[in-house]
Amino acid sequence: MHDLRDRRIVLGLSGGIACYKSAELVRRMIEQGATVDVVMTDAATHFITPVTMQALSGRPVFVDAWDARVPNNMAHIDLTRGADAILVAPASADFMAKLVQGRADDLLSTLCLARACPLLVAPAMNREMWGSAPTQRNVTQLSADGVVILGPGSGSQACGETGDGRMLEPHQLLAELIAFFQPKSLSGRRVLMTAGPTIEPIDPVRVITNRSSGKTGYAIARAAWEAGAQVTLVSGPTALAVPYGVTRIGVESARQMYDAVLAAAPDSDVFISVAAVADWRVANIASDKIKKDDHQPPALEFVANPDILATVAALPDGPWCVGFAAETQLLSKFAHEKRLRKGIPMLVGNLAQHVMDADETTVSIFDDTGEHPIAPGTKYDVARLIVQAIAKRLPARRR
Ligand code: C5P
Repeated sequence: MHDLRDRRIVLGLSGGIACYKSAELVRRMIEQGATVDVVMTDAATHFITPVTMQALSGRPVFVDAWDARVPNNMAHIDLTRGADAILVAPASADFMAKLVQGRADDLLSTLCLARACPLLVAPAMNREMWGSAPTQRNVTQLSADGVVILGPGSGSQACGETGDGRMLEPHQLLAELIAFFQPKSLSGRRVLMTAGPTIEPIDPVRVITNRSSGKTGYAIARAAWEAGAQVTLVSGPTALAVPYGVTRIGVESARQMYDAVLAAAPDSDVFISVAAVADWRVANIASDKIKKDDHQPPALEFVANPDILATVAALPDGPWCVGFAAETQLLSKFAHEKRLRKGIPMLVGNLAQHVMDADETTVSIFDDTGEHPIAPGTKYDVARLIVQAIAKRLPARRR
């Protein structure tokens, strides 16, 4: 994926041990297609060399406001013109204080003052510095000035103490940066989702399950968070990393998924049911391992699992519901019928044999006006289009 394709970012480093993370960050930004101009304060060069940042960014690194390489001496203006954003990571306590005061006594602070683009800062400092009254005043003021504050994280610090003030990890900053450029079509909405398979026990060591990688559901969770939603993902077992910003509740069986969803549904604006829920579970689960030597192949009896989506759709003041249908034939017919049967306003349909385990997908949206094909693409591209389609149809906030 090239989620920062055609983006030009100025990455500023001020002085802090977290500068070592910025080396990884610049690599990841470039992998995503960004052009990155690195600007370092003098203090930052004590923690990591400009040579390192130059080798990783593939472009000249700027430190000095009087850099003779810039013929018109206008680096402080030129570097941000045409830039999509300045990201200062790490942003030290001192650098944030300078931003608040509008000081411009080195190249990076001058660039920030002279910018014509958004400014994002990732604070990085000792927990006492972060919690101090001046720093907290400065953070409040920067937010009021329209500066986007990313983090900080919490945990063990280079100084040996533990608490708030760590710079976010490179993958977290990358996720924040990518999300920054996405339209906030679900801003403030609470999205509840299911994804992945369920697994239903036969005995303590054997299960039956559905084939589902969880890739589509996880991609939609990520896209919904990027669109500004607060996302709770109730997930069956998958091998996927939880998308940054998303709260995951892990479950195994359909009944566990049902319980987790029903508990969260009243506080949700939208429910997106992507999971491949097992339609049946074994009625006669053996309490001990069934021995293959002693028995004929076991005769399994099944009982129906509760239909999670239909139950949520029938809640009196429940969330706006989106269903999924993976069919192997007659997609339009079955998808229309399923949407009506479940009593939901929107359903996303696909042909299972085309998308199972794949990274690419082709889907159509079904609503009360008919079928609307979505441009094929990676599951992530399609997830963003599905999120846009949900946002477009979602009624105004009800509570
Ligand atoms: O009922 P069917 O499997 O045909 O419909 C698929 C849709 O219903 C999907 O959105 C799936 O997540 C949801 N579903 C559910 N609970 C079930 C079975 C399916 O929520 N027990």
